[in-house]
Amino acid sequence: MSHLIAPSVLAANFGHMDHDVQMLNQSTADWIHIDVMDGRFVPNISFGFPVLQAIKAKATKTLDVHLMIESPELYIEQFQKAGADIITVHEEACTHLHRTLQQIKDTGAKAGVALNPHTPIQVLSEVIEDIDVVCLMSVNPGFGGQKFIQHTYRKIEQLKALIVERNASTLIEIDGGVNLDNAPLLLRAGADVLVAGSFVFNSNNPTNTILELKNLTR
Ligand code: DX5
Ligand code: ZN
Repeated sequence: MSHLIAPSVLAANFGHMDHDVQMLNQSTADWIHIDVMDGRFVPNISFGFPVLQAIKAKATKTLDVHLMIESPELYIEQFQKAGADIITVHEEACTHLHRTLQQIKDTGAKAGVALNPHTPIQVLSEVIEDIDVVCLMSVNPGFGGQKFIQHTYRKIEQLKALIVERNASTLIEIDGGVNLDNAPLLLRAGADVLVAGSFVFNSNNPTNTILELKNLTR
């Protein structure tokens, strides 16, 4: 499988969301990454159900919803109904992660787990077979446009080893500070999905930037 590109609409223009979603529909993006923040789990507030529904109404791509919220188990069904195809919860926000993953799958959505930069891969060793996507945060979550954290490469290799050892089909997604300098190295280390926010939307030609990320070889 070739790698996937998931532009993050956190960096899009919210006054022209229709225009930006159309651009993504027509681009070589595979997923649309949607960052939900509650002002509790992370020190920022982004958007919730109405915005997700509005994106869903226009989007023709898989909606990859990254929940940076406390107690995500309270809202799983609502996010699926609002249009999420993939629902990613933070390991640090889930006391009963195994149960929450089952809850996500029961809605018909794919289940993702995100890990903060400080969280070791080992916390997933007993649930890896139940996870469709692991999202490795390569910045501290809460804001777009931050600097990529270098130790992410090491975590990709550790995660890849765990996935291979358990014969799991989990995808490895990298989120934060991704650009054309680090993307080739991330793919070589084992990344399957690259999220890119500011690098795509702050570029002169977002469609072309998405294509450049997509055309990299592993
Ligand atoms: C950070 C978000 C990221 C963010 C990435 O909390 O989870 O998805 O939008 O933005 P860039 O690519 O600008 O780091
Ligand atoms: Zn994200």
